[in-house]
Amino acid sequence: MIRLTRRHFTTSLLATGAAGFGLPDRALSDATPVLTARAGMARLAPRDYPETAIWGFDGLVPGPILRLPKGGRLQRRFRNDLPQASTIHWHGIRIVKAMDGVPGMTQDAVAPGSEFLYDFALPDAGTYWYHPHNRGWEQMARGLYGALIVEETSGAPEVDSDEVLMLDDWRLAEDAQIAGGFGDMHDWAHAGRLGNWITVNADGAWSRQVSKNSRHRLRLVNTANARIFSLEAQGLEGWVIALDGMPLEQPQPLEQLILAPAQRADLLVDITAQDGGEAFLVSHERDGGYAIATFNVAGSARADRLTEPHPLPPNAVPDLGDIAQARSAQLRMEGGAMGRMTEAVMDGRMTGMREMAGAGKVWAVNGMADMPDRPLIAAARGETIRIAMTNDTAWPHAMHLHGHHFRRLVKDGTQGPLRDTLLLDRGEVAEIAFVADNPGDWLLHCHMLEHSAGGMMTWLRVA
Ligand code: C2O
Ligand code: CU
Repeated sequence: MIRLTRRHFTTSLLATGAAGFGLPDRALSDATPVLTARAGMARLAPRDYPETAIWGFDGLVPGPILRLPKGGRLQRRFRNDLPQASTIHWHGIRIVKAMDGVPGMTQDAVAPGSEFLYDFALPDAGTYWYHPHNRGWEQMARGLYGALIVEETSGAPEVDSDEVLMLDDWRLAEDAQIAGGFGDMHDWAHAGRLGNWITVNADGAWSRQVSKNSRHRLRLVNTANARIFSLEAQGLEGWVIALDGMPLEQPQPLEQLILAPAQRADLLVDITAQDGGEAFLVSHERDGGYAIATFNVAGSARADRLTEPHPLPPNAVPDLGDIAQARSAQLRMEGGAMGRMTEAVMDGRMTGMREMAGAGKVWAVNGMADMPDRPLIAAARGETIRIAMTNDTAWPHAMHLHGHHFRRLVKDGTQGPLRDTLLLDRGEVAEIAFVADNPGDWLLHCHMLEHSAGGMMTWLRVA
Protein backbone atom coordinates (compact mmCIF):
# COMPACT_ATOMS: atom_id res chain seq x y z
CA MET A 1 0.00 0.00 0.00
CA ILE A 2 0.93 3.61 -0.30
CA ARG A 3 2.94 5.21 2.42
CA LEU A 4 1.81 8.73 3.12
CA THR A 5 5.00 9.92 4.72
CA ARG A 6 6.73 13.24 4.37
CA ARG A 7 9.74 13.28 2.11
CA HIS A 8 13.11 13.90 3.73
CA PHE A 9 16.05 15.67 2.26
CA THR A 10 18.64 13.37 0.92
CA THR A 11 21.98 13.96 2.54
CA SER A 12 24.10 13.30 -0.52
CA LEU A 13 23.76 16.77 -1.97
CA LEU A 14 26.35 19.45 -1.71
CA ALA A 15 25.24 22.48 0.20
CA THR A 16 25.61 25.33 -2.24
CA GLY A 17 23.54 28.34 -1.31
CA ALA A 18 21.79 30.03 -4.20
CA ALA A 19 22.81 33.62 -4.68
CA GLY A 20 20.23 36.19 -3.65
CA PHE A 21 19.69 39.19 -5.87
CA GLY A 22 17.43 42.06 -5.01
CA LEU A 23 17.57 44.85 -7.52
CA PRO A 24 15.21 47.72 -6.80
CA ASP A 25 11.96 47.91 -8.74
CA ARG A 26 11.62 50.92 -10.93
CA ALA A 27 8.42 52.87 -11.28
CA LEU A 28 6.92 52.71 -14.75
CA SER A 29 4.75 55.38 -16.17
CA ASP A 30 3.24 53.06 -18.74
CA ALA A 31 -0.20 51.74 -17.82
CA THR A 32 0.57 48.18 -18.92
CA PRO A 33 0.97 45.91 -15.91
CA VAL A 34 4.54 44.84 -15.25
CA LEU A 35 5.67 41.27 -14.69
CA THR A 36 9.14 41.22 -13.22
CA ALA A 37 11.54 38.31 -13.06
CA ARG A 38 13.52 38.78 -9.88
CA ALA A 39 14.90 37.16 -6.78
CA GLY A 40 12.68 36.37 -3.80
CA MET A 41 12.25 34.08 -0.85
CA ALA A 42 9.85 31.17 -0.54
CA ARG A 43 8.89 28.76 2.21
CA LEU A 44 9.44 25.54 0.32
CA ALA A 45 10.63 23.44 3.22
CA PRO A 46 9.08 22.76 6.65
CA ARG A 47 9.21 25.40 9.38
CA ASP A 48 12.37 24.04 10.97
CA TYR A 49 14.30 24.90 7.81
CA PRO A 50 15.14 28.39 6.55
CA GLU A 51 13.26 29.94 3.68
CA THR A 52 14.71 29.31 0.22
CA ALA A 53 16.19 31.97 -2.04
CA ILE A 54 14.39 31.62 -5.38
CA TRP A 55 13.93 33.45 -8.66
CA GLY A 56 10.30 34.17 -9.39
CA PHE A 57 7.95 36.29 -11.42
CA ASP A 58 7.26 39.30 -9.20
CA GLY A 59 9.61 37.54 -6.79
CA LEU A 60 7.03 34.81 -6.16
CA VAL A 61 6.91 31.12 -6.86
CA PRO A 62 4.63 30.28 -8.52
CA GLY A 63 4.40 33.67 -10.23
CA PRO A 64 1.05 35.46 -10.22
CA ILE A 65 -1.83 33.53 -11.78
CA LEU A 66 -2.81 35.40 -14.93
CA ARG A 67 -6.54 34.82 -15.46
CA LEU A 68 -8.23 36.20 -18.53
CA PRO A 69 -11.33 35.35 -20.55
CA LYS A 70 -11.17 33.47 -23.82
CA GLY A 71 -10.93 36.00 -26.63
CA GLY A 72 -9.20 38.46 -24.31
CA ARG A 73 -5.76 39.96 -24.69
CA LEU A 74 -2.76 39.47 -22.47
CA GLN A 75 -0.55 42.52 -22.07
CA ARG A 76 2.42 42.52 -19.78
CA ARG A 77 5.56 44.58 -19.71
CA PHE A 78 8.18 41.99 -18.86
CA ARG A 79 10.97 43.40 -16.79
CA ASN A 80 14.12 41.40 -16.22
CA ASP A 81 15.74 42.03 -12.85
CA LEU A 82 17.67 38.79 -12.92
CA PRO A 83 21.46 38.70 -13.25
CA GLN A 84 21.09 36.90 -16.62
CA ALA A 85 19.13 37.42 -19.82
CA SER A 86 15.64 35.96 -19.99
CA THR A 87 12.35 35.85 -21.92
CA ILE A 88 8.82 34.62 -21.32
CA HIS A 89 7.38 31.74 -23.32
CA TRP A 90 3.62 31.34 -23.03
CA HIS A 91 3.44 27.59 -23.11
CA GLY A 92 0.63 25.99 -25.07
CA ILE A 93 -1.16 29.12 -26.19
CA ARG A 94 -1.59 29.31 -29.95
CA ILE A 95 0.16 32.61 -30.11
CA VAL A 96 1.51 34.94 -32.78
CA LYS A 97 5.12 34.12 -33.53
CA ALA A 98 6.59 37.43 -32.36
CA MET A 99 5.26 36.80 -28.82
CA ASP A 100 6.52 33.22 -28.43
CA GLY A 101 9.51 34.21 -26.32
CA VAL A 102 12.22 32.16 -28.02
CA PRO A 103 15.52 34.08 -27.98
CA GLY A 104 17.32 34.12 -31.31
CA MET A 105 14.17 33.03 -33.08
CA THR A 106 11.26 35.29 -32.18
CA GLN A 107 13.00 38.00 -30.15
CA ASP A 108 16.31 38.93 -28.56
CA ALA A 109 16.80 37.73 -25.00
CA VAL A 110 15.93 40.51 -22.55
CA ALA A 111 19.12 41.68 -20.87
CA PRO A 112 19.28 42.32 -17.13
CA GLY A 113 17.62 45.65 -16.42
CA SER A 114 15.71 45.65 -19.72
CA GLU A 115 12.09 45.15 -20.72
CA PHE A 116 9.97 43.57 -23.42
CA LEU A 117 6.29 44.11 -24.12
CA TYR A 118 4.20 40.96 -24.52
CA ASP A 119 0.82 41.65 -26.09
CA PHE A 120 -1.27 38.94 -27.71
CA ALA A 121 -4.76 37.51 -28.15
CA LEU A 122 -5.96 34.42 -26.30
CA PRO A 123 -7.85 32.25 -28.77
CA ASP A 124 -8.43 29.20 -26.56
CA ALA A 125 -9.80 28.59 -23.09
CA GLY A 126 -7.77 26.30 -20.86
CA THR A 127 -4.84 25.81 -18.52
CA TYR A 128 -1.58 27.20 -19.87
CA TRP A 129 1.57 28.43 -18.21
CA TYR A 130 4.47 30.77 -18.66
CA HIS A 131 8.17 30.31 -18.12
CA PRO A 132 11.50 31.65 -19.42
CA HIS A 133 12.99 30.23 -22.62
CA ASN A 134 16.57 31.23 -21.93
CA ARG A 135 18.65 28.99 -19.66
CA GLY A 136 15.37 27.40 -18.60
CA TRP A 137 17.30 24.55 -17.05
CA GLU A 138 18.59 27.00 -14.46
CA GLN A 139 15.89 29.68 -14.38
CA MET A 140 12.98 27.27 -14.03
CA ALA A 141 14.85 25.16 -11.50
CA ARG A 142 15.13 28.37 -9.45
CA GLY A 143 11.36 28.92 -9.57
CA LEU A 144 10.51 31.03 -12.62
CA TYR A 145 7.07 29.91 -13.75
CA GLY A 146 3.42 30.80 -13.38
CA ALA A 147 -0.03 29.80 -14.60
CA LEU A 148 -1.95 31.40 -17.45
CA ILE A 149 -5.61 30.50 -17.08
CA VAL A 150 -7.94 31.35 -19.94
CA GLU A 151 -11.50 31.06 -18.74
CA GLU A 152 -14.41 29.69 -20.72
CA THR A 153 -16.83 32.46 -21.56
CA SER A 154 -19.72 29.97 -21.36
CA GLY A 155 -20.17 26.30 -20.50
CA ALA A 156 -17.74 26.24 -17.56
CA PRO A 157 -18.53 23.38 -15.18
CA GLU A 158 -20.28 23.99 -11.87
CA VAL A 159 -17.62 23.78 -9.15
CA ASP A 160 -17.12 24.78 -5.52
CA SER A 161 -13.55 25.84 -6.23
CA ASP A 162 -11.12 26.20 -9.10
CA GLU A 163 -7.53 25.54 -8.05
CA VAL A 164 -4.26 25.73 -9.95
CA LEU A 165 -1.79 23.13 -8.68
CA MET A 166 1.71 23.65 -10.04
CA LEU A 167 3.80 20.56 -9.37
CA ASP A 168 7.54 20.91 -9.06
CA ASP A 169 10.53 19.12 -7.67
CA TRP A 170 13.42 21.06 -6.24
CA ARG A 171 16.97 20.02 -5.66
CA LEU A 172 17.60 21.41 -2.21
CA ALA A 173 20.71 21.25 -0.12
CA GLU A 174 20.48 20.54 3.60
CA ASP A 175 20.06 24.24 4.38
CA ALA A 176 16.97 24.17 2.12
CA GLN A 177 18.74 26.34 -0.48
CA ILE A 178 18.65 25.44 -4.17
CA ALA A 179 21.61 23.23 -4.95
CA GLY A 180 23.97 24.38 -7.71
CA GLY A 181 25.35 22.16 -10.43
CA PHE A 182 22.83 23.24 -13.07
CA GLY A 183 25.14 22.28 -15.89
CA ASP A 184 25.99 18.84 -14.51
CA MET A 185 26.56 16.66 -17.58
CA HIS A 186 25.63 13.53 -15.65
CA ASP A 187 22.13 14.97 -15.18
CA TRP A 188 22.05 16.16 -18.76
CA ALA A 189 22.94 12.77 -20.23
CA HIS A 190 20.54 10.89 -17.94
CA ALA A 191 17.02 11.81 -16.83
CA GLY A 192 17.75 15.53 -16.41
CA ARG A 193 17.90 17.47 -13.15
CA LEU A 194 15.62 15.63 -10.76
CA GLY A 195 14.88 17.16 -7.39
CA ASN A 196 14.65 15.76 -3.90
CA TRP A 197 11.76 17.88 -2.63
CA ILE A 198 8.33 17.87 -4.24
CA THR A 199 6.02 20.84 -3.90
CA VAL A 200 2.58 21.93 -5.03
CA ASN A 201 2.47 25.70 -5.49
CA ALA A 202 5.90 25.81 -3.83
CA ASP A 203 4.46 24.23 -0.69
CA GLY A 204 5.84 20.91 0.53
CA ALA A 205 2.62 20.23 2.42
CA TRP A 206 -0.12 21.82 0.31
CA SER A 207 -3.56 21.41 1.85
CA ARG A 208 -7.09 22.76 1.63
CA GLN A 209 -10.18 22.40 3.73
CA VAL A 210 -13.07 20.99 1.73
CA SER A 211 -16.46 19.45 2.44
CA LYS A 212 -17.81 16.05 1.49
CA ASN A 213 -19.42 15.88 -1.95
CA SER A 214 -17.97 19.23 -2.92
CA ARG A 215 -16.72 19.45 -6.51
CA HIS A 216 -13.40 21.01 -7.49
CA ARG A 217 -11.64 21.83 -10.69
CA LEU A 218 -7.98 21.03 -10.24
CA ARG A 219 -5.69 22.43 -12.90
CA LEU A 220 -2.47 20.43 -12.66
CA VAL A 221 0.70 21.75 -14.28
CA ASN A 222 4.00 19.88 -14.24
CA THR A 223 6.60 22.63 -14.00
CA ALA A 224 9.52 20.36 -13.09
CA ASN A 225 12.66 20.40 -15.23
CA ALA A 226 12.58 16.66 -15.77
CA ARG A 227 10.37 14.72 -13.35
CA ILE A 228 7.51 12.67 -14.76
CA PHE A 229 4.73 12.57 -12.18
CA SER A 230 2.62 9.47 -11.79
CA LEU A 231 -0.44 10.52 -9.84
CA GLU A 232 -3.37 8.85 -8.19
CA ALA A 233 -6.34 10.18 -6.23
CA GLN A 234 -7.50 8.85 -2.87
CA GLY A 235 -10.76 9.97 -1.27
CA LEU A 236 -11.67 11.93 -4.35
CA GLU A 237 -13.21 10.72 -7.56
CA GLY A 238 -13.84 12.36 -10.85
CA TRP A 239 -12.78 12.95 -14.40
CA VAL A 240 -10.05 14.34 -16.59
CA ILE A 241 -11.77 17.06 -18.63
CA ALA A 242 -8.84 18.64 -20.48
CA LEU A 243 -5.22 17.87 -21.37
CA ASP A 244 -2.61 20.50 -22.19
CA GLY A 245 -5.36 23.12 -22.08
CA MET A 246 -7.57 21.46 -24.66
CA PRO A 247 -10.97 20.01 -23.64
CA LEU A 248 -11.47 16.27 -24.09
CA GLU A 249 -14.40 15.38 -26.29
CA GLN A 250 -15.67 13.23 -23.41
CA PRO A 251 -14.58 13.52 -19.76
CA GLN A 252 -12.47 10.47 -18.90
CA PRO A 253 -12.76 8.75 -15.50
CA LEU A 254 -9.80 9.75 -13.34
CA GLU A 255 -7.48 6.84 -12.76
CA GLN A 256 -3.71 6.85 -12.72
CA LEU A 257 -2.49 10.05 -14.35
CA ILE A 258 0.94 10.47 -15.92
CA LEU A 259 2.07 14.06 -16.17
CA ALA A 260 5.32 14.65 -18.07
CA PRO A 261 7.22 17.95 -17.81
CA ALA A 262 5.11 20.84 -19.20
CA GLN A 263 1.95 18.74 -19.47
CA ARG A 264 -1.28 19.86 -17.88
CA ALA A 265 -4.45 18.07 -16.87
CA ASP A 266 -7.72 19.66 -15.80
CA LEU A 267 -9.56 17.44 -13.34
CA LEU A 268 -13.09 17.68 -12.00
CA VAL A 269 -13.14 15.85 -8.68
CA ASP A 270 -15.74 15.19 -5.98
CA ILE A 271 -14.66 14.72 -2.40
CA THR A 272 -15.82 11.23 -1.47
CA ALA A 273 -13.84 10.85 1.77
CA GLN A 274 -15.94 11.02 4.95
CA ASP A 275 -16.51 14.14 7.01
CA GLY A 276 -13.51 14.41 9.34
CA GLY A 277 -11.34 12.40 6.97
CA GLU A 278 -8.72 13.29 4.37
CA ALA A 279 -8.40 12.98 0.62
CA PHE A 280 -5.10 13.04 -1.26
CA LEU A 281 -3.35 13.46 -4.52
CA VAL A 282 -0.59 10.88 -4.32
CA SER A 283 2.62 10.93 -6.33
CA HIS A 284 4.15 7.53 -6.92
CA GLU A 285 7.92 7.64 -6.60
CA ARG A 286 10.44 4.85 -6.77
CA ASP A 287 10.45 4.51 -3.00
CA GLY A 288 6.73 4.78 -2.40
CA GLY A 289 3.72 7.06 -2.58
CA TYR A 290 3.69 10.58 -1.22
CA ALA A 291 0.70 12.78 -0.53
CA ILE A 292 1.53 15.97 -2.43
CA ALA A 293 -1.87 17.60 -1.90
CA THR A 294 -4.13 16.99 1.09
CA PHE A 295 -7.81 17.83 1.35
CA ASN A 296 -9.13 17.93 4.92
CA VAL A 297 -12.83 17.11 4.91
CA ALA A 298 -15.02 19.12 7.28
CA GLY A 299 -18.79 19.14 6.88
CA SER A 300 -20.80 18.26 3.85
CA ALA A 301 -21.52 20.39 0.79
CA ARG A 302 -24.56 18.40 -0.31
CA ALA A 303 -26.22 15.05 0.37
CA ASP A 304 -24.95 13.40 -2.83
CA ARG A 305 -22.34 13.89 -5.50
CA LEU A 306 -23.21 16.19 -8.37
CA THR A 307 -24.11 14.51 -11.64
CA GLU A 308 -21.62 13.57 -14.33
CA PRO A 309 -20.13 16.65 -16.02
CA HIS A 310 -20.62 17.72 -19.61
CA PRO A 311 -17.53 18.10 -21.78
CA LEU A 312 -15.99 21.58 -21.78
CA PRO A 313 -16.87 23.67 -24.84
CA PRO A 314 -14.29 22.90 -27.56
CA ASN A 315 -11.64 25.34 -28.78
CA ALA A 316 -11.62 26.07 -32.50
CA VAL A 317 -8.67 23.89 -33.52
CA PRO A 318 -9.05 22.75 -37.14
CA ASP A 319 -9.66 19.08 -37.94
CA LEU A 320 -6.73 17.16 -39.39
CA GLY A 321 -8.50 16.51 -42.68
CA ASP A 322 -7.10 13.91 -45.06
CA ILE A 323 -4.29 12.27 -43.09
CA ALA A 324 -3.43 9.86 -45.90
CA GLN A 325 -2.44 12.72 -48.21
CA ALA A 326 -0.45 14.60 -45.57
CA ARG A 327 3.30 15.11 -45.91
CA SER A 328 5.37 13.49 -43.24
CA ALA A 329 8.70 14.20 -41.53
CA GLN A 330 10.85 11.73 -39.62
CA LEU A 331 12.29 12.70 -36.27
CA ARG A 332 14.79 10.44 -34.54
CA MET A 333 15.77 11.23 -30.97
CA GLU A 334 19.27 10.01 -30.18
CA GLY A 335 22.02 10.19 -27.60
CA GLY A 336 22.25 10.23 -23.84
CA ALA A 337 23.75 7.72 -21.47
CA MET A 338 23.33 4.06 -22.37
CA GLY A 339 22.34 5.03 -25.89
CA ARG A 340 23.73 3.95 -29.23
CA MET A 341 24.84 7.34 -30.48
CA THR A 342 28.61 7.69 -30.78
CA GLU A 343 28.76 10.95 -32.75
CA ALA A 344 26.60 13.71 -34.13
CA VAL A 345 26.94 16.98 -36.00
CA MET A 346 28.02 19.78 -33.69
CA ASP A 347 29.31 23.20 -34.82
CA GLY A 348 28.77 22.00 -38.36
CA ARG A 349 31.00 18.92 -38.21
CA MET A 350 30.78 15.30 -37.12
CA THR A 351 31.88 15.16 -33.50
CA GLY A 352 32.43 12.27 -31.09
CA MET A 353 30.33 11.96 -27.95
CA ARG A 354 33.16 12.78 -25.56
CA GLU A 355 33.96 16.06 -27.29
CA MET A 356 30.25 16.81 -27.55
CA ALA A 357 29.75 16.29 -23.82
CA GLY A 358 32.62 18.71 -23.16
CA ALA A 359 30.60 21.33 -25.04
CA GLY A 360 27.35 20.50 -23.25
CA LYS A 361 25.79 18.50 -26.06
CA VAL A 362 24.76 14.92 -25.37
CA TRP A 363 21.59 14.51 -27.44
CA ALA A 364 20.70 14.89 -31.09
CA VAL A 365 17.74 15.02 -33.43
CA ASN A 366 18.30 13.30 -36.77
CA GLY A 367 22.05 13.19 -36.09
CA MET A 368 22.28 16.91 -35.34
CA ALA A 369 23.10 18.38 -31.94
CA ASP A 370 23.04 21.99 -33.19
CA MET A 371 19.92 23.97 -33.88
CA PRO A 372 19.67 23.06 -37.57
CA ASP A 373 19.90 25.79 -40.23
CA ARG A 374 16.98 24.29 -42.04
CA PRO A 375 13.59 23.35 -40.59
CA LEU A 376 12.57 19.74 -40.04
CA ILE A 377 9.78 20.49 -42.48
CA ALA A 378 8.48 23.65 -44.17
CA ALA A 379 4.70 23.67 -44.33
CA ALA A 380 2.32 25.68 -46.40
CA ARG A 381 -0.14 27.56 -44.26
CA GLY A 382 -3.08 25.32 -43.44
CA GLU A 383 -1.33 22.14 -44.53
CA THR A 384 -1.68 19.00 -42.44
CA ILE A 385 1.74 17.73 -41.34
CA ARG A 386 2.64 14.37 -39.87
CA ILE A 387 5.75 13.80 -37.80
CA ALA A 388 6.90 10.26 -37.11
CA MET A 389 9.01 10.32 -33.95
CA THR A 390 11.32 7.53 -32.85
CA ASN A 391 12.82 7.59 -29.39
CA ASP A 392 16.09 5.81 -30.10
CA THR A 393 17.43 6.48 -26.59
CA ALA A 394 17.34 4.75 -23.22
CA TRP A 395 15.28 7.57 -21.65
CA PRO A 396 11.74 8.92 -21.85
CA HIS A 397 11.27 12.32 -23.50
CA ALA A 398 8.47 14.87 -23.44
CA MET A 399 8.30 16.37 -26.92
CA HIS A 400 6.74 19.83 -27.12
CA LEU A 401 5.64 21.65 -30.26
CA HIS A 402 5.31 25.42 -30.12
CA GLY A 403 2.41 27.36 -31.62
CA HIS A 404 0.14 24.39 -32.34
CA HIS A 405 -1.67 21.49 -30.74
CA PHE A 406 -1.31 18.08 -32.36
CA ARG A 407 -2.98 14.68 -32.15
CA ARG A 408 -1.29 11.35 -31.89
CA LEU A 409 -2.20 9.02 -34.76
CA VAL A 410 -3.02 5.65 -33.28
CA LYS A 411 -2.49 2.49 -35.35
CA ASP A 412 -6.17 1.57 -35.39
CA GLY A 413 -6.90 4.80 -37.26
CA THR A 414 -8.15 6.75 -34.27
CA GLN A 415 -6.69 10.06 -33.19
CA GLY A 416 -5.55 10.93 -29.70
CA PRO A 417 -6.60 14.07 -27.82
CA LEU A 418 -5.16 17.47 -28.71
CA ARG A 419 -1.88 17.99 -26.89
CA ASP A 420 1.15 20.25 -27.00
CA THR A 421 3.54 17.85 -25.24
CA LEU A 422 3.80 14.11 -25.82
CA LEU A 423 5.68 11.65 -23.63
CA LEU A 424 7.61 8.98 -25.51
CA ASP A 425 9.02 6.12 -23.54
CA ARG A 426 12.44 4.67 -24.26
CA GLY A 427 12.34 2.96 -27.64
CA GLU A 428 8.84 4.20 -28.36
CA VAL A 429 7.63 5.27 -31.79
CA ALA A 430 4.79 7.76 -32.14
CA GLU A 431 3.30 9.65 -35.02
CA ILE A 432 1.62 13.01 -34.53
CA ALA A 433 -0.29 15.24 -36.92
CA PHE A 434 -1.42 18.83 -36.85
CA VAL A 435 -2.74 21.52 -39.12
CA ALA A 436 0.11 24.00 -39.64
CA ASP A 437 -2.10 27.08 -39.51
CA ASN A 438 0.10 29.41 -37.45
CA PRO A 439 2.70 31.17 -39.59
CA GLY A 440 6.24 31.38 -38.27
CA ASP A 441 9.17 29.31 -37.08
CA TRP A 442 8.26 26.99 -34.23
CA LEU A 443 10.41 24.92 -31.93
CA LEU A 444 9.92 21.22 -31.41
CA HIS A 445 11.97 20.03 -28.45
CA CYS A 446 12.15 17.83 -25.42
CA HIS A 447 10.72 19.63 -22.38
CA MET A 448 13.18 17.91 -20.11
CA LEU A 449 15.14 21.10 -20.04
CA GLU A 450 18.59 19.54 -19.80
CA HIS A 451 17.77 17.43 -22.85
CA SER A 452 16.69 20.30 -25.08
CA ALA A 453 19.68 22.41 -24.04
CA GLY A 454 21.82 19.33 -24.63
CA GLY A 455 20.76 19.04 -28.27
CA MET A 456 17.25 17.57 -28.41
CA MET A 457 15.73 20.45 -30.29
CA THR A 458 14.62 21.20 -33.82
CA TRP A 459 12.16 23.54 -35.53
CA LEU A 460 9.49 23.77 -38.20
CA ARG A 461 8.51 26.55 -40.54
CA VAL A 462 4.95 27.49 -41.44
CA ALA A 463 4.81 29.85 -44.40
CU1 C2O B 1 7.41 25.15 -22.29
CU2 C2O B 1 9.79 25.47 -25.64
O1 C2O B 1 8.62 25.34 -23.95
CU1 CU C 1 14.19 14.40 -23.12
